[in-house]
Amino acid sequence: MDSARSPIRTICCIGAGYVGGPTMAVIADRCPHIQVTVVDLNVERIDAWNDPDLARLPVYEPGLDAVVGRARGRNLHFTTEVDGAIAAADMVFLSVNTPTKTRGVGAGQASDLRWIEASARQVAAVARGHTIVVEKSTLPVRTAEAVKAILGAAQQNGSGPANGETKTFSVLSNPEFLAEGTAIGDLESPDRVLIGGEDASAIECLAGIYATWVPDERILRTNLWSSELSKLTANAYLAQRISSINSIAALCEATGADVREVGRAIGTDSRIGSRFLQAGPGFGGSCFQKDILNLVYLCRHYGLEEVAAYWEQVVTLNTWQQDRIARMVVQRLFGTITGKRLAVLGFAFKADTNDTREAPAIRICRELIEEGARLVIVDPKVSSAQIAADLGQPPSAAEGGWQVAASPLEAATGADAVLILTEWREYARLDWDAIGAVMRRPAWLFDARAIADADAARAAGLNVWRVGEG
Ligand code: NAD
Ligand code: UGA
Repeated sequence: MDSARSPIRTICCIGAGYVGGPTMAVIADRCPHIQVTVVDLNVERIDAWNDPDLARLPVYEPGLDAVVGRARGRNLHFTTEVDGAIAAADMVFLSVNTPTKTRGVGAGQASDLRWIEASARQVAAVARGHTIVVEKSTLPVRTAEAVKAILGAAQQNGSGPANGETKTFSVLSNPEFLAEGTAIGDLESPDRVLIGGEDASAIECLAGIYATWVPDERILRTNLWSSELSKLTANAYLAQRISSINSIAALCEATGADVREVGRAIGTDSRIGSRFLQAGPGFGGSCFQKDILNLVYLCRHYGLEEVAAYWEQVVTLNTWQQDRIARMVVQRLFGTITGKRLAVLGFAFKADTNDTREAPAIRICRELIEEGARLVIVDPKVSSAQIAADLGQPPSAAEGGWQVAASPLEAATGADAVLILTEWREYARLDWDAIGAVMRRPAWLFDARAIADADAARAAGLNVWRVGEG
């Protein structure tokens, strides 16, 4: 069934975040005959999605402004009118946040499902007729059981519209695999679309929407539980590769090997593959850590202690990598950074995004602040307010404080060291002669992304540490 023949004409997406916004924008762009409404409780976020100035959308993603610009107001809408949008929808996507629980049973590991439950209850309460409910959020395996139970209760107690119309539901799992910074390309040309479910007709309704632009062989159909678990597994595998290469980076530094050479040597093996072999300051982002911890929790729940310990080590190694970089900086700067000015280039968890959730920069900066450094942070997309929220303190020029600068050169002026924590492309083209000239000597470049021109920095008189270089 392609989208022209799919009966779906109205979609509601609950959650206008990093996933809901871009995903629905691409669906609306590709399927002009489907009305797509993205709803959120967060008024500020919805206002930003509706901002006439496309440079001010709440999510920064290359290409997103053009997609939103084409569809918004035509068949893509952003609103806080949640109930009306659900009632009008043939299909409702649940794309709400599922962070790690901070208290109660499973705190620190299990997913906090309160937002999923609240949105499922809202769908149960106000949906009309037959509604296909799609889990877009990343969820612990078997969450669909709870979603079905909530929707099933509404079905049974006949809380449908007064005119006697019955309400019925089908539940699908359709996890999202987009990565931030490349979201539009990932959505427009996905490696695969995964749809899990029990109701073949509902599966084909959703498959028909994607089939508008995704080749059918890339649309995978599975049972509900395989779909839910595949998402956690994909993230666990990707994160595991990063911890693996970071562990080897430490060994390279100790032995004189170079992790980039090792990465190239192993990555040419087609069984290993060349992607996700970049050593760095550890993985960040809202999902890798939370999803692995969730997997660990599930394994323990099912009595699989060794499996849980295996995956937990991926997170342990990641935290260790961040700590070791902070400790190494202190050690190379004569064992003390109290009062020293350090320029931090990059705060986002990766390039091409304004997202700082779980960014390695947060932990590393906090540790340097704890040691009394004066940090001067610069990032092309992250606001000073966001940095303040992440570091838990307002800007200050004092010892153990942080400020922002408008450019790397300004940040480096009078600094003892430059630390590169995000691989923004412009950091590959820094003018080291100019930077070296304004730093205090001896000056250091600590390149945790191995992106800068190390030879140019050395030629400008800096000492250079690069992740994974022995
Ligand atoms: P987000 O925090 O950016 O957005 C979630 C939004 O849902 C928020 O704006 C919140 O206000 C809204 N919300 C919560 N409860 C609501 C309710 N009852 N009614 C209306 N709105 C409600 O989160 P995100 O990054 O978009 O992630 C969403 C899900 O997708 C998570 O499960 C995440 O693991 C998964 N995921 C994220 C990414 C990513 O790159 N960020 C990629 C793949 C999957
Ligand atoms: C990741 C997955 O790649 C997506 O498939 C998934 O949908 C998403 O998580 C999610 O579920 O949220 P994302 O976190 O946006 O996407 O970005 P990645 O490109 O995976 O990078 C994650 C972290 O790993 C970043 O901090 C990045 O700098 C780091 N990384 C990545 C490395 O250190 N080395 C690498 O080789 C690759």
